[in-house]
Amino acid sequence: MARILLTGGAGYIGSHTYVALCEAGHEVTILDDFSNSDPDVIDRLTRLTGGTVDLVRGSVLDRAALDGVFAGRGIDGVVHFAALKAVGESVARPLDYFETNIGGLMTLMQAMKAAGVWRIVFSSTATVYGAPAVFPIPETAPLSYTSPYAFTKLTCERILAQAADADPWVTGVLRYFNPVGAHESALIGEDPRGVPDNLMPYMAKVALGELPELQVFGDDYATPDGTAWRDYIHVMDLSRAHVQSMSALLNGRSHVLNIGTGSPVSVLEMHAAYERAIDRALPHRVVGRRAGDVPKLYADPTRAREELGFEARYGLDEMCASSWAWVQAQAKGWRFNS
Ligand code: WQD
Repeated sequence: MARILLTGGAGYIGSHTYVALCEAGHEVTILDDFSNSDPDVIDRLTRLTGGTVDLVRGSVLDRAALDGVFAGRGIDGVVHFAALKAVGESVARPLDYFETNIGGLMTLMQAMKAAGVWRIVFSSTATVYGAPAVFPIPETAPLSYTSPYAFTKLTCERILAQAADADPWVTGVLRYFNPVGAHESALIGEDPRGVPDNLMPYMAKVALGELPELQVFGDDYATPDGTAWRDYIHVMDLSRAHVQSMSALLNGRSHVLNIGTGSPVSVLEMHAAYERAIDRALPHRVVGRRAGDVPKLYADPTRAREELGFEARYGLDEMCASSWAWVQAQAKGWRFNS
């Protein structure tokens, strides 16, 4: 058992990782300012884990709040989720992304150093691969950025690598591909504000009748059905990868790993899977490509298997069924679960 701090632990991946860490026997503290998450997720985490959540409401930019978290808790390691993560938004608000994503990591690392806490799992992204030319994508692929968001994640990866030359940092960098789905309880899931940018939450809103149709962004890519390929990974698999990453850090083993399935899926294949989940047609229409999209992104998952023993278990149908169950439960306010 270890004492783990989750920054951004009330968010989509953070909340699922909270449950997974508790189930693995760890004691977990959440730091979250609820700038992009809903405080009532804390009540649902309490129901899911059967225990009171140790919550500190605050920002990773607040050094005094961080010092307060580390004082007296005996934190053994940190999983750092708290960041801004919308590619399009980052183009419009680059300074906010630099401040929150890079400044937030810096403030956190300074507080960790002062407290003598050196283990950190960092939430990175496959977007650091830019527009790759070799598939499946290994961790050794060239790194680049095509948005301020990707720039901040790549910069944070480089800060973590450089810092380890001067102090005994033990770092786990996890490059997520496309996280989707929800916890099997339907009590936690992806809860984007406004109209979703990402494919699965957008389809969920169409399925609920809140949006008229799915727009498929381009069918002129060099794939069998012409629509873009992505590596979708169930959030339950992704949260388990964080537990295994922290275990490696507790054993002194740093790593930089792709967290994906290794299996590319097209937009139309994901659309068909969602129709199977809702058992009816989901209105859709092919339109032009979305600016900034790359044709293909899918992982070589070999190193995560070798270094963590991690392999994704859930398939497309579980991803879609869990998403659909979650959005229905959310729409009903979980009344039937009370
Ligand atoms: C997936 C596919 C779209 C919506 C982004 C970020 C990445 C990560 C995950 C943070 C693409 C197509 C989508 C729609 C569509 N975020 N699509 N119609 O762009 O692969 O990755 O989210 O870490 O950093 O870049 O995910 O879900 O937006 O798109 O056709 O209404 O679905 O063109 O091919 P993406 P996505």
